[in-house]
Amino acid sequence: MQNQQTKKLTLAAMMTAVLIILGVFPGIPLGFIPVPIILQNMGVLLTTELLGAKYGTLSTALFLALALFGLPVLSGGRGGFAVFLGPTGGYLIAWLLVPAVLGSLLYLLKQHNRLSWWLELVTVMIAGVLLIDIIGSIWLSVQSHMSLTTALLSNVAFLPGDMIKATLSVILARRLRKIPALQGIF
Ligand code: BTN
Repeated sequence: MQNQQTKKLTLAAMMTAVLIILGVFPGIPLGFIPVPIILQNMGVLLTTELLGAKYGTLSTALFLALALFGLPVLSGGRGGFAVFLGPTGGYLIAWLLVPAVLGSLLYLLKQHNRLSWWLELVTVMIAGVLLIDIIGSIWLSVQSHMSLTTALLSNVAFLPGDMIKATLSVILARRLRKIPALQGIF
């Protein structure tokens, strides 16, 4: 039990490192909204799929705390309190909520033996990708003084890339769960 907990804590720390590494790739600006295309949201999805609600939240919270305290862990080497109040602040807050929401849903589906490949992907799309984009849009509309409709419609531009990221995260998570040494942890 103790051993299992130690392994989960270690993996939570490792996923925080993965989130930081994904930030090395600079964001791609869209031009029409001050929100870039990035890879770190894929890391949040993967962290949740692998670690679930509790340890996923721990890992993501640690990553966001580093960003909040000014470490340059966000894409393009950004960090600091001001980023959380900027146009992308809503997405960052959503990243903290995803493990609890998505992780709990995936746990329930697993309990009922319903975690097929497709159902896992659809759940990740709705309780991961859409949750992030909707919360991000709400804050973006407030912060940038644009209508919520405009903010939501602008976020449609992220959907093709985010769908690819969600698919990759599900493929990777399902493969990693099959590794004997990781079974019972992921
Ligand atoms: C930040 O680094 O300040 C957060 C950037 C948030 C970007 C969001 S996450 C969801 C959507 N998909 C993307 O590729 N970019 C936006």
